[in-house]
Amino acid sequence: MAKVWVEKLFDEPEIYILRIDDDMTRFFEAVWEIPEGITYNAYLLRTRGETILFDTCKGEYSEDFLKALSSLIDPKTITHVVVHHAEPDHSGALPKVLEANEYRAKIWCTPLTKKLLEAFYDIKGDLKSIEDKEEVKIGELKLKFICTPWLHWPDTMITYIPENGIIFGCDVGGGYSIPEDIDETKEKDIDRYFRYVTKYIVTVIGHYRKYIPENFEKLKNLGVLDNLKVLLPGHGLVWRKEPLKLLEHYAKVALGEKTKDKFLIVYDSMYGFVDKMINIAIDELKANGIEPVVYAFTDKSAPPLSDVLTDIPDSSAIIFGFSTYEAGLHPTARYLLSEIVDKANYEKPALALGSFGWAGALKRELQRLSKELKINIIEAIEVSGRPKAEDERRIRESVKKLIQLSL
Ligand SMILES: Cc1cc2nc3c(=O)[nH]c(=O)nc-3n(C[C@H](O)[C@H](O)[C@H](O)COP(=O)(O)O)c2cc1C
Ligand SMILES: [Fe+2]
Ligand SMILES: [Fe+2]
Repeated sequence: MAKVWVEKLFDEPEIYILRIDDDMTRFFEAVWEIPEGITYNAYLLRTRGETILFDTCKGEYSEDFLKALSSLIDPKTITHVVVHHAEPDHSGALPKVLEANEYRAKIWCTPLTKKLLEAFYDIKGDLKSIEDKEEVKIGELKLKFICTPWLHWPDTMITYIPENGIIFGCDVGGGYSIPEDIDETKEKDIDRYFRYVTKYIVTVIGHYRKYIPENFEKLKNLGVLDNLKVLLPGHGLVWRKEPLKLLEHYAKVALGEKTKDKFLIVYDSMYGFVDKMINIAIDELKANGIEPVVYAFTDKSAPPLSDVLTDIPDSSAIIFGFSTYEAGLHPTARYLLSEIVDKANYEKPALALGSFGWAGALKRELQRLSKELKINIIEAIEVSGRPKAEDERRIRESVKKLIQLSL
């Protein structure tokens, strides 16, 4: 039984949140480790005899969701369902909700969401394809549907209520974790929450991050951002006081705005030779007053890749350390680099250190990747086995150069 929150957020307009706390999913999208968990937020709005449900939750929580919904209203009385995005973390409980509703509600979604819902579920309901920026009057309220393609899928839209400056954002504005309270005003550690938001952006929307500023520009031109008062996302905290703060954070992550002197080090080492090279680099950074963030993949440690990726957008420079493995890079390095290209491909200066036995692969592999990798490798230093005195001198020199470039 999941923890379910049913709370009234506003009297005018009358809006409730239905939040399912998912602490069972260990790997979001079957890949990203989330020990912090995730929430699925749906919203219910009542306006003069009309009842609108915005999104649902993951299918495995259908029963919990229906119970929560039924504690508020008889599901048969829902007159409208808005589906912002077909991904099953928001639409999974839709079939059960519509069944309980006896298919009475009109369902509003984009044409692609409609197609996907039909492909995913045997939905028989009254599905209406909306047009971008379409306005509908329901009860006393005007709702405006605005397409926000690629945040997170091409089908995605948000709902905006101009009169009250409210956005139902679905994935827009989402973050991982199960916050102790509903909204940002009660969050005790907002920096920690922002890190979960960064992790969510990078792992979920990272591949499409250029669409974040594009869609924000669209919202700005429509006058939505200037009028924004409340952001109700599909994951994590509700933003009822300073929603722009969250959107500014989204923009920062999308653009890769750096934190001064944040050096990220990621390396693998099977028998400790790359580790020796990395320790020289760490020593040189420390001599320059810099304490790096370090992720080591060794026979004793395997940090979550989602954490490594989270630390990329705001880093000011990166140092990689890779061993050579069967004429290529270590399997961890291959996976890491492919996920960086896919999810966290930012223009950052970087240094690459490598150790091999008989024929190094580092330079060749980086060369092969150079077309797609935006990270700018200023130097690749490769040694056979352990670093010698001359290698140490080169590593220290390169680290000094990297510090200069990171400013
Ligand atoms: C499974 C395995 C495969 C390796 N494949 C290669 C290789 O193809 N070419 C090479 O030059 N060295 C190869 N090596 C040697 C390592 O790259 C070398 O010992 C390096 O110094 C290891 O650094 P590390 O202890 O930091 O991992 C291999 C080592 C192992 C254990
Ligand atoms: Fe999504
Ligand atoms: Fe989502």
